[in-house]
Amino acid sequence: MNKITIAIDGFSSTGKSTIAKQLAKKLEYIYVDTGAMYRAVTLFALRKGHIDAENFSVNDLVADLDAINLTFKYNDSLGFAEMYLNGENVEKEIRTLHISEYVSKVAAIPEVRYQLVKQQQKMGKDKGIVMDGRDIGTVVFPDAELKLFMTASPEKRAMRRYKELIDKGDKVAYEDVLRNVQSRDYIDSHREDSPLRQAEDAVALDNSDMGLKEQFERILNLANRTINP
Ligand code: DC
Repeated sequence: MNKITIAIDGFSSTGKSTIAKQLAKKLEYIYVDTGAMYRAVTLFALRKGHIDAENFSVNDLVADLDAINLTFKYNDSLGFAEMYLNGENVEKEIRTLHISEYVSKVAAIPEVRYQLVKQQQKMGKDKGIVMDGRDIGTVVFPDAELKLFMTASPEKRAMRRYKELIDKGDKVAYEDVLRNVQSRDYIDSHREDSPLRQAEDAVALDNSDMGLKEQFERILNLANRTINP
């Protein structure tokens, strides 16, 4: 069967990864969560003290980029690949609000983007991949056969993320999650290098009032029509 590249971009907490995971499973494609890679670099920078509440040393982080080794390992019982930073499983740690508070600033550094984009392009070189992020359809795979752009109101997205964090035991306030969603929207879409924007040939999907099943069916339908025109 014809294998294609599926790029899913959009604002934070629009449910991109949930849909992307389901789609990859159904099509027997590889799934790559590029946000996890930016989050792992952020965790590395925080642990090394390159960034904290007072300092943000781009130079120190950039000088240390070669010391970062990112890999995904498939976890059979979870049904998706987890993020490893220099051999350590950091899947849980990178999902906290603490990491979310720094990640957009780290993702705005051109040298960081250059390294990660190169790795992402390598992962998808044989197609048969669903990749989600902010610049997949515009920069990483501008020739992707299917591009989706997901949006929803900031309040709906913050509420979804809030519930997820609470379920995981992260004691957060809804207002802080909303503030984080809005601040990341702003930084992600206003940065100079590869800002978040909808590719001209992307299909937009506002899922503010749409259930997961309806979204999945719609997207699977689009994918099948692209694979077998
Ligand atoms: O998808 P996410 O919320 O886990 O992504 C975390 C941050 O990483 C997001 O605020 C912006 C950045 N990011 C990016 O700049 N480019 C990508 N391809 C993926 C994520």
